[in-house]
Amino acid sequence: MSETLYDRLGGEDVIADVVDEFYDRIMADEQVAHYFDDVDMQKQRAHQAQFISSVTGGPVEYSGEDMEAAHADLGIGPDDFEAIATHLDEALASFDVDESDRQTVLEEIERYRDAIVTAPN
Ligand code: HEM
Repeated sequence: MSETLYDRLGGEDVIADVVDEFYDRIMADEQVAHYFDDVDMQKQRAHQAQFISSVTGGPVEYSGEDMEAAHADLGIGPDDFEAIATHLDEALASFDVDESDRQTVLEEIERYRDAIVTAPN
């Protein structure tokens, strides 16, 4: 069986650690932290780990809402999307994920931009 990106990243455990680092960075960034004021972050982290695992080819089923429903009422602009994508890239880099694999993860996420971004900024 060929190795998936999920395998190369280090599977479930590493992805859970990357997601923790990702949300630590988000919560320290006042541009975007406020979006998560009323969010159950334990559930958020768990769903995000499932989501990233599934889009990178892991044997994991994402059990949260679809991207459009989850972000519909949030008024997220392109700058916010950029900020969140950068935090993900930097969280991956902090776990020594190389540039080419980081780019692939970001490309997978980019496919959801139109579902997530609903405001001009
Ligand atoms: C960059 C790509 C993004 C991905 C892959 C992503 C992924 C997710 C996932 C998997 C959930 C969980 C949904 C659920 O639990 O049912 C979620 C919820 C959420 N996302 Fe995103 N997201 C992205 C961008 C953003 C951006 C740019 C913001 C705001 C700056 C944002 C804010 C939120 C908030 C506040 C929730 C919680 C909604 C709620 O529980 O009511 N997300 N996102």
